[in-house]
Amino acid sequence: MKIAVTGGTGYIGSHTVVELQSAGFEPVIVDNLYNSNQEVLQGLYNITGRDIPFYNIDCTQEQAVRELFEKEKFDGVIHFAAYKAVGESVAEPLKYYENNLGSLIVLLKVMQEFGVSNFVFSSSCTVYGQPDTLPVTEDTPRLPATSPYGNTKAISEDIIRDFVFSKPAIKAISLRYFNPVGAHPSAEIGELPLGVPNNLVPYLTQAAAGLRDTLVVFGDDYDTADGTCVRDFIHVVDLAKAHVKALELLNGQSEPNYYDVFNVGTGQGNTVLELIKTFEEANNLKLNYHIGPRRPGDVEKIWAQSDKANTVLKWKTEKTLADSLRDAWRWQQKITKK
Ligand code: NAD
Ligand code: WQD
Repeated sequence: MKIAVTGGTGYIGSHTVVELQSAGFEPVIVDNLYNSNQEVLQGLYNITGRDIPFYNIDCTQEQAVRELFEKEKFDGVIHFAAYKAVGESVAEPLKYYENNLGSLIVLLKVMQEFGVSNFVFSSSCTVYGQPDTLPVTEDTPRLPATSPYGNTKAISEDIIRDFVFSKPAIKAISLRYFNPVGAHPSAEIGELPLGVPNNLVPYLTQAAAGLRDTLVVFGDDYDTADGTCVRDFIHVVDLAKAHVKALELLNGQSEPNYYDVFNVGTGQGNTVLELIKTFEEANNLKLNYHIGPRRPGDVEKIWAQSDKANTVLKWKTEKTLADSLRDAWRWQQKITKK
């Protein structure tokens, strides 16, 4: 089955391409290289032994996407392509609404036109904001988004649901990712942040590699075990495998109109300091870090209840936080040498 993977040269998309290929799907990458580069294709070749087809296309460009669908005859779409920098989205909201919503609408329209019925969407735990009760289930109410980026995810989920339950026979799943970390164990692919990383693990590995002076831990006065924030850190390869399961569920789904959402997390929360300690132990090194002020807008604590993904998607995590942090460090060492 041929699957269009938009954003397929990006961090999560590239790992998903590997898992699709090994599960017998035929992934085709569609990416405009806004936040990734073509070298990823060599990494994918080194892992899979295959040249994964790649199209440099902007998914907001309807005619270009239509021509691609005309040519490739897809059986399904996994839509990763989006901008994801929370801070930038506050400064440039229209850029985010235009790209993240524009690309989604184009894809759904073209899918309908070509009778492609299976759609998997990259949503985020950001739609829950700071929930009152933990862990969060899929029924935990979504809270008003605190950034335009987060809002694009909530609006996208609504667009997909409305589309599915209108006329077309479209089946779709939104996967709400928690915090993806790590890299492929081969160190052939991983996260490639542009400029100074915003996220914890890429910043931490750059600090460990000497590319940053020190890691600042944003606040230690939260209401958590050690005062630092709690997140559900999931290995990117485990996350990638959830997409294969989602496609398999859609393929086996007899309802013509089907839509559901799934949390994709480990079900376990770890504090920032626990993550640092696990990184030091897993890699046998000492990290230079200090406690700084809170980062405005940070959620205090969140982790997933992943029972629905375990039972309905038949997916579960296989890797530990230590595995993630060993793989993240192996990848950082490789890209630092380049
Ligand atoms: P990424 O930036 O590494 O990958 C996204 C890819 O999409 C990039 O390669 C970029 O070039 C491409 N892209 C962006 N706009 C495009 C367009 N209009 N046309 C074609 N390609 C375009 O990001 P990622 O971390 O792999 O995230 C993938 C998806 O998962 C995104 O939708 C993101 O919002 C979502 N998500 C990410 C996280 C996270 O922490 N990384 C968490 C939750 C959800
Ligand atoms: C994790 C923890 C920081 C950097 C963001 C987006 C969210 C989602 C995932 C896509 C927090 C702390 C971080 C640093 C630190 N993406 N930290 N020092 O905040 O959970 O979520 O990425 O949908 O939408 O907002 O991830 O990795 O930035 O931070 O102490 O230099 O690490 O305060 O507690 P976050 P993160």
